[in-house]
Amino acid sequence: MTLNPGSRGDRDAVRYPVASDPHGHRPVLLREVMDLLAPVPGESVIDLTAGRGGHAAALGASVGAGGVLTLLDRDPDNLAYAGARIAAMPGAPRVHQIHADFRSVALMMPAGGPPANAVLADLGFASTQIDDPARGLAFSHDGPLDMRLDPTRGETAAQLVARLDERELADIIFQYGEDPFARRIARNIAQTRVRMPISTTDQLASLVRESYGTRAAASRLHPATRTFMALRIAVNDELGALEGLVAAVRDAAHAAASGLPTWLAAGARVAIMSFHSLEDRIVKRAFAQMIEAGWAESLTRKPVEASPAEVGANPRARSAKLRAIKLVR
Ligand SMILES: C[S@@+](CC[C@H](N)C(=O)[O-])C[C@H]1O[C@@H](n2cnc3c(N)ncnc32)[C@H](O)[C@@H]1O
Repeated sequence: MTLNPGSRGDRDAVRYPVASDPHGHRPVLLREVMDLLAPVPGESVIDLTAGRGGHAAALGASVGAGGVLTLLDRDPDNLAYAGARIAAMPGAPRVHQIHADFRSVALMMPAGGPPANAVLADLGFASTQIDDPARGLAFSHDGPLDMRLDPTRGETAAQLVARLDERELADIIFQYGEDPFARRIARNIAQTRVRMPISTTDQLASLVRESYGTRAAASRLHPATRTFMALRIAVNDELGALEGLVAAVRDAAHAAASGLPTWLAAGARVAIMSFHSLEDRIVKRAFAQMIEAGWAESLTRKPVEASPAEVGANPRARSAKLRAIKLVR
């Protein structure tokens, strides 16, 4: 490997030698996450969104063989991949793998295990999920209209599109996707599904493009971008899951501040990285409430964002907003 000691990416590769994924997945804001969570040998850490194990590998290396790393993911394949990646590291910590939605983290933590000293949630989807046509998350390749991050349960996007009435569809596309043509797209979906089921990503993408009419050519983004994002958020109830997670953190912060045993240790650091303004708003409000109540202090006065160099190397980092708190001792 050739290293240019001047660039941040290369400095991180030296500092976190386990961070590069053989499949090319780049963990977003890795250095910033590690600086904020500051895990030390022997601690217990939770990665609530294990994904491809990029952040988890760096967290695991920091807590070392005497530490505990709990991995959660809704996607069983990502969870298994991340778990195997950590287990293969020299000096790997003790690893617990939990296939679950992070909203139930408080119920899922192994009984009798140590409370967590650091917790990370890196929201959304992994590159391997969006790149797999079988997952139906992208309009760039044809596949079944699925979109579930946990393919073992729940309603698919095709089922959601068939079930909701036109007004509900328009609200989802407008609120989560902020698409100005939401009503027109919903009407087109409602008229089309009477004739045939909408069951593939290509079908939905062409229908959205058609709804844009002559404006499609002038659109900076592919016309289907916002509709796909909105339906993915709805299929996976992503905002509900995040509300559940911040409620679990809030309850634990309250308990820890009152000296009661809970899944978070006194002084625990919690970092949440979001990619959508509605997500960031939920995190910002919840953290502000905990700080106001005197249960936590802020570690990020403003949300941390990626540098132009990181965005250049990894365009997904563009919309990342990282906020972190530390529970009171
Ligand atoms: C952006 S990726 C995480 C990438 C990871 N930090 C890494 O460096 O490899 C997000 C992961 O979170 C998972 N996920 C999304 N929402 C979740 C939820 N509510 N509960 C558990 N896992 C979730 C997705 O399945 C995906 O694997």
